[in-house]
Amino acid sequence: MADLYVKEFDMMNPFVVASSPATQGARNVLKSAAMRPGAIVLRNFGHGAGGGSYIGPDSKAMFSGQMSIHSHAVGRQIKDTINTLEQYCEEVQRIKREMDKDIKLWVSVGHYSDIKGGGDWEKDWANQAKELERAGADAIELHFNTPGVAVAKDRIFDYHQLLRHSIEVMKKAVPSMPIMAKLAIESCDVLTSMRIAQAAGAAAAGPTARWKGFYFDLDWRTTQARPGAGYGGTQATPLVCYSIAEARTEGLTIPLYGGGGVFSYDQAVRILMSGSQAVQLGALACAGGTKACEKVIKDLNRFMDDNGYRDMDSLCGDALKLFQMDKDLTALRQNRLADAYQEAQVADSCIGCGRCVDVCWHEGIEMRGKAAAKTDKCIGCGYCFQVCPTGALHVEKERILASAFEEQGIVRGQ
Ligand SMILES: Cc1cc2nc3c(=O)[nH]c(=O)nc-3n(C[C@H](O)[C@H](O)[C@H](O)COP(=O)(O)O)c2cc1C
Ligand code: SF4
Ligand code: SF4
Repeated sequence: MADLYVKEFDMMNPFVVASSPATQGARNVLKSAAMRPGAIVLRNFGHGAGGGSYIGPDSKAMFSGQMSIHSHAVGRQIKDTINTLEQYCEEVQRIKREMDKDIKLWVSVGHYSDIKGGGDWEKDWANQAKELERAGADAIELHFNTPGVAVAKDRIFDYHQLLRHSIEVMKKAVPSMPIMAKLAIESCDVLTSMRIAQAAGAAAAGPTARWKGFYFDLDWRTTQARPGAGYGGTQATPLVCYSIAEARTEGLTIPLYGGGGVFSYDQAVRILMSGSQAVQLGALACAGGTKACEKVIKDLNRFMDDNGYRDMDSLCGDALKLFQMDKDLTALRQNRLADAYQEAQVADSCIGCGRCVDVCWHEGIEMRGKAAAKTDKCIGCGYCFQVCPTGALHVEKERILASAFEEQGIVRGQ
């Protein structure tokens, strides 16, 4: 069995159950602990206990790793019952008493509304951090993701300054506590945010892909749309992977815990392979529950065993070989495929549907009687191959693309 231990976070596996209804109060943290993640983030207090959320198209798609979305605002939204720092610290103490010792407890400090509300929020946050350290929390998380990014609304250029300042306030208040900076990838330059987090002394940064979104069904019946922060889904993963791979390519060494759209193991693998040491589980924990999260952990283990990844060091950042692929190799792969597209002729299985002609923008294919035929104007762009319903236009795309990697010795896991 692959070793899932993450030394950068001292966690038994790379999964962090992120701040959400699944981590609201001690009761839910202890319930989430059943999936045995590396860490759980206790949700911040006094700002609504959060209601349900919408999974589109449905949970079957979500559980099977197909494209799916997640959006806030279905079902009743209730107020938080934990409203004071004292109560919050009691929750922390209870969790520390009752939760397995090998699961880390990260706790949230502050809320963007504190800043918006004015007043002495720095003093308040510093006090929270000190009390939470005393209560036994393992790390502090600062929420500069959505909805934290709302702080930057209308004064977007303050975001980075605010981030640096908040980390420094925390470092001063609780110098020996790890400070996790959860970051937005919308409305600001996340690479700069990660640089700032590293320079200000944060223990880790969590680039997180969730946005303000407006999702609704066209018949308006089933969706209770509430536009605003809290839209995510599997389409988020490539964006968060990019931000992570870019940070690593730019030489950032701060441990990362990226999040966004991890509904099955493969998205988690992508985030880790892009160079993150850990992965957040948000919507999956809330809407999929502990069983779905347990499955992701198990499936990651299986994937690593099947593909020869012994430990997290061998998996993390492995896809940087792809991200950092040099221009010549990119061109070689592109041209090899283009040559194959250009050379391939229409096979006998053509049924004369004409779709290929419809998507060809170079007069590279035409109808001759009841079948299509290539012309010498074909440039090998490949559109027609993608729409042919019978395989009459076909090239061995995977083999052609993989061959260039093999020749250059770019291999997974080495
Ligand atoms: C229902 C719900 C409520 C959330 N509430 C918060 C919150 O109060 N504070 C916060 O920092 N993040 C919150 N998040 C974001 C998650 O902590 C996590 O970063 C994000 O959901 C990860 O993306 P994913 O849902 O695509 O996995 C929430 C997420 C969900 C699904
Ligand atoms: S590969 Fe491109 S240019 Fe050639 S026939 Fe197909 S669509 Fe036209
Ligand atoms: S899309 Fe395929 S089946 Fe249809 S006409 Fe073109 S080659 Fe023939």
